[in-house]
Amino acid sequence: MVKESTFSENFVPDKLPFRERELDMLEATIRAITGRLSGVAYILGRPGLGKTVISLRFAQSVSERGAVPLYVNCRKYRSSSLVMSKILRLLNKGFPERGLSFSELVLMLEESLKDLHQDILIILDEIGYVRDGGDLIYSLFRVNEGTEIPPPAIIMISREWMPKYLLDRSILSFIKMRIRLDPYREEELLEILRYRAQLGLRSGSYTKDVLSMIAGIAAPHGDARYAINILYQSASIAESSSSEKILPEHVREALSSEVPLVDRGVLLSLDIHEKLLLMAATRLLEKSHAPQVPIGKVEEEYRVLCESYDVPHLKHTALWRRVKSLDSAGLISTRKSSKGVKGQTTLISIEYVSASSIYKELKTMLDQDLGSV
Ligand SMILES: Nc1ncnc2c1ncn2[C@@H]1O[C@H](COP(=O)(O)OP(=O)(O)O)[C@@H](O)[C@H]1O
Ligand SMILES: [Mg+2]
Repeated sequence: MVKESTFSENFVPDKLPFRERELDMLEATIRAITGRLSGVAYILGRPGLGKTVISLRFAQSVSERGAVPLYVNCRKYRSSSLVMSKILRLLNKGFPERGLSFSELVLMLEESLKDLHQDILIILDEIGYVRDGGDLIYSLFRVNEGTEIPPPAIIMISREWMPKYLLDRSILSFIKMRIRLDPYREEELLEILRYRAQLGLRSGSYTKDVLSMIAGIAAPHGDARYAINILYQSASIAESSSSEKILPEHVREALSSEVPLVDRGVLLSLDIHEKLLLMAATRLLEKSHAPQVPIGKVEEEYRVLCESYDVPHLKHTALWRRVKSLDSAGLISTRKSSKGVKGQTTLISIEYVSASSIYKELKTMLDQDLGSV
């Protein structure tokens, strides 16, 4: 009854109701200048309003016209160098992952663009995660400077605010269009749900009443992701209880499952090492019954998990970055221990939801992704 692919994060529906105007705005901003695709647009808005999917839909239309879209989610590449090297790897599969300085990477990009006879569109999603993004953006704007070729087309995306480094006048003047998305209204959510149900569920397995119920639940945030997630969870519950139809009770059950839907979305979006690390921390917290565990222990447990899933483990420094990102995502809290015999260490705790339910959720996800252990 449930067509999984239709509900996955990277699914791009053909139509995006209530976002046609925004697509037209992109179309008007990013277009051929002296024969090459150029222009810079910025999309802002709370989670679940369609920022990513709009950019991907636009990328499709651009690629149908022969240009090459390059999509980077900056949540995974959090410094200018990491983003720049990801862009180069998207352009050139064999490009090495490490070893070049930022200015070398910029030169490489200039070179590759010169050789490339196609236009490119760079999409920088969740740009707020890039700590030193000023360098990145400034360099991208000035690539090709001194030549006839205009700089590449760029779409940047972030939450409700722009990172400070973009507020610099020299950068702001390049951004031709700012598109701010509003939360969806209840009727709009209903229409989006109806459309997604049509694509992903067996006809007859859902009713207008159930869709309206879900639209009503998601309406206070106007968040399409949340609405679609509830629909998906409810359909899965209906299916596993061999019901022909999704019933209101299935929706209620979806809402009351242990890990709130929103958090499940956050968990899904973690990278593999963040998942393994969080799994290690939750497992230890659950086993030890202590309010917090030292980072060293978590790291040991993480390596054990990596081994059992057959994933090469990260070195200490790279792992430390993941600890910080889990902390800033609000999934764990870290603090320094008081100075003891062995000196200071960092302690990890989880405060807002049961460790065992997060552990179970992550285990299900990883078993699915990597094969159960
Ligand atoms: N107008 C729309 N029509 C259909 N689906 C939509 C629409 N807006 C958002 N969605 C869906 O809602 C979910 C969240 O959208 P997304 O673009 O990822 O949000 P954001 O990037 O703003 O957090 C995705 O599954 C997307 O396909
Ligand atoms: Mg997004």
